[in-house]
Amino acid sequence: MPRPRARPHVISNFVTTLDGIVSLQVKGHSGGGDISGFDAQDRMVMGLLRAIADVVIVGAGALNADRRHVWTAETVFPELAAAYRQLREAMGKRRTPLNVVVSGNGKLDLRLPVFASGAVSALIVTTAAGAKRLCKQRVPDSVAIRAIRGSGGVIPAAAILDAACRVSAGRLILVEGGPMLLGDFYAQRLIDEQFLTLAPQIAGREVGDGRLGLVMGQTFAPRDARWGTLIDVRRGKSHLFLRYAFP
Ligand SMILES: NC(=O)c1ccc[n+]([C@@H]2O[C@H](COP(=O)([O-])OP(=O)(O)OC[C@H]3O[C@@H](n4cnc5c(N)ncnc54)[C@H](OP(=O)(O)O)[C@@H]3O)[C@@H](O)[C@H]2O)c1
Repeated sequence: MPRPRARPHVISNFVTTLDGIVSLQVKGHSGGGDISGFDAQDRMVMGLLRAIADVVIVGAGALNADRRHVWTAETVFPELAAAYRQLREAMGKRRTPLNVVVSGNGKLDLRLPVFASGAVSALIVTTAAGAKRLCKQRVPDSVAIRAIRGSGGVIPAAAILDAACRVSAGRLILVEGGPMLLGDFYAQRLIDEQFLTLAPQIAGREVGDGRLGLVMGQTFAPRDARWGTLIDVRRGKSHLFLRYAFP
């Protein structure tokens, strides 16, 4: 990772099938685990990236797919909890990364663990209408709410990043998606690096089945393609762990 500097360094981490699917959108099977085959090495990498991150950003869709989750290293790979903790300490980081949840409409349940457990500090980035809706619930002490003007409920990714950086002193930002949120970050060319696990399965798709690709809600190629540079490849059995830099 680059040395700390004033500008945030934004990385993203996803797992995809060989045929480019990141969510099956099947009840009980829509998470990344069904894509990776609950691969231990993939979870280890997720944990490692969370362990060095100052901030983890997710959208409401990612939260709804895994409502009991809290975005820390040890929740995704408890086997290395002690090592992750040591790494964070050695890097002089806070105990856990700030968990940022993005929702335009603010239809979030503040009793969920990410907000109510006190395990992490959370920041909700939303619209004025979303903030008004959220404030009808009891807001836990560990939760901050930031309202941002957006068009049609969509908040620009740069504003999300800015809101996160106002709360977090650290500048290593991990975007874990989902695909709608990631698309907004690519649209504004805010992703510096994409970590992508290629899982050795073909999931298949039917026309209109709602299965999701890495980026949704944005079209880049052929007119405005986002080309990356492969900067690292590792293999764990038949899974490939890819790392791309984007200008
Ligand atoms: N394979 C993987 O590595 C991986 C990684 C992450 C997620 N996933 C899967 O992806 C699926 C979710 O996909 P998704 O695209 O729906 O996820 P998402 O981007 O988390 O969710 C979309 C929702 O998040 C909010 N949102 C996102 N960007 C926003 C913006 N710029 N401004 C305002 N609100 C914004 C909106 O919430 P409101 O509707 O509340 O306004 C929007 O409806 C899940 O099944 C999840 O498991 C897979």
